[in-house]
Amino acid sequence: MAVAGSAVGLGNFLRFPGLVADPETGGGAFLVAYFVSLLLVGLPVCWVEWTLGRFGGSRGFNSSPGIFHALLGRPWGKYLGLLGFVVPVGVYFYYVVIESWCLGYAWHSFAGNLDLADPKAFAGFFAGFTGQGEDGHLLLGGGALAFFAAVFVLNFAIIYRGISGGIELVCKWGMPLLILLALILLGRVLTLGAPDPSRPELSVWNGLGHMWNPKAIATGLSNPAVWLKAASQVFFTLSVGFGVIITYASYLKPKDDVVLSGLTSSSANEFCEVALGGLITVPAAYAFLGASAVAGGTFALGFNVLPQVFAQMPMGHFFGGCFFLLLFIAAITSSLSMLQPGIAFLEEGLGLDRPRSVALLGLITAVGCTLVLWFSKDLKALATVDFWIGDIGIFLQGTLLIYVFNLGLGVERGWQQAHLGAEMRIPGIFRPILRWVTPAYLTAIFAMFLLTNLAGWNLSLASPAFAPTGPVLDLVGSADAPASPVARLAFLFLLTFLAFSALLIHLAGRRWSRRPS
Ligand code: ALA
Repeated sequence: MAVAGSAVGLGNFLRFPGLVADPETGGGAFLVAYFVSLLLVGLPVCWVEWTLGRFGGSRGFNSSPGIFHALLGRPWGKYLGLLGFVVPVGVYFYYVVIESWCLGYAWHSFAGNLDLADPKAFAGFFAGFTGQGEDGHLLLGGGALAFFAAVFVLNFAIIYRGISGGIELVCKWGMPLLILLALILLGRVLTLGAPDPSRPELSVWNGLGHMWNPKAIATGLSNPAVWLKAASQVFFTLSVGFGVIITYASYLKPKDDVVLSGLTSSSANEFCEVALGGLITVPAAYAFLGASAVAGGTFALGFNVLPQVFAQMPMGHFFGGCFFLLLFIAAITSSLSMLQPGIAFLEEGLGLDRPRSVALLGLITAVGCTLVLWFSKDLKALATVDFWIGDIGIFLQGTLLIYVFNLGLGVERGWQQAHLGAEMRIPGIFRPILRWVTPAYLTAIFAMFLLTNLAGWNLSLASPAFAPTGPVLDLVGSADAPASPVARLAFLFLLTFLAFSALLIHLAGRRWSRRPS
């Protein structure tokens, strides 16, 4: 339940529908790449992470640096776990901000303040609430600041109570409540039909077609960006490569099942992602607003489009409030899981007790969140941290996990480890997948990323020249597009955080070298 709670989050209800609805990389082709990635990367690395976590726990370690130290038995081993500390904390910097928007929207929806029938007013509300107009707006008291403060404190209050008292309690009640709320909303959306009788083509069924019809499969699948986005989404949504599952699994007993648990939590996540997140948001937005409105980007779809949908439903405030409350519950079980690896590392690496580890992590995350909150114009800091930590960091940590598993434990020993106390067997086909396919697949995708950005391989090798795109372009700039100072500052901050974390791991290593591993 705790891993499923971690997995099900904003990725399911905001990121996934946003990607599916994306006019360039979404639709049926995206879903094909998504399910291929789920089978070849998501599930195998998920089992790897569970197995490594339980193995590390049996050696007395709960954090990625500690577990890699125990597994590899080399002075440099612990540094390979660096991203297992940096990624969850770094994602938390912005995740908790979006989480607070959800609570704010739930509040305003129940209070009837989101009665915005005019789409422009909606866009204005979202922009004002999230401080997109100017830097510093939020910290000077505008928009969502009060909600952020409440959510930030709530997260640390829960984590302070410890893994069983805090996280399990929220997951035990939060997960079923979340699914119940989502099913109510799904029922509502699927019975909407064509809400505007004068435009029968704008129906829920055509919305489902927009999402599922395998249109333009060949062109879609020949686009490397589709594969990149699909693989990253699989990691993000399963909480694989976060350093979260490895820590949670380390609390298991040596013969507790990890195979069925990994499959169950992933399946629960996929149900919430594909059957709930995707089926609520995409068809509803399509039925009310048509294909053009569906192409609104990840956050726009959830926060801009859905309140318009709710505004046109009977009891719209109630359904809207439920939906954003659902998002908030989904998000908090994920953000809590992002704090636990940090707490585990500070406790076992630096010997801090719970109050001190919570205080230090609170300080680190407060600095990171301040950066995201202050530089709110166009959500630039948020987008920069999301890309470098939420896409690249997670991807690299997931790739490291499969290599450490193969080289540190070995596929045969790892396979045996995975099956200790297992309630089911992993199908034999996954042996070669773990050994060859997953590492090759991930390496190829990262090579595509490098080629796309560094060698100008904009979907062809025709013009090899330095041609960065997106967040990389923000950093380096070009003749037409100057670099973004905020993106540079955020990147520098992340590098500093990385170096600081490496120093902490160095200090932890001294401590660990004095104890038998
Ligand atoms: N796995 C979490 C999500 O999907 C982080 O939001």
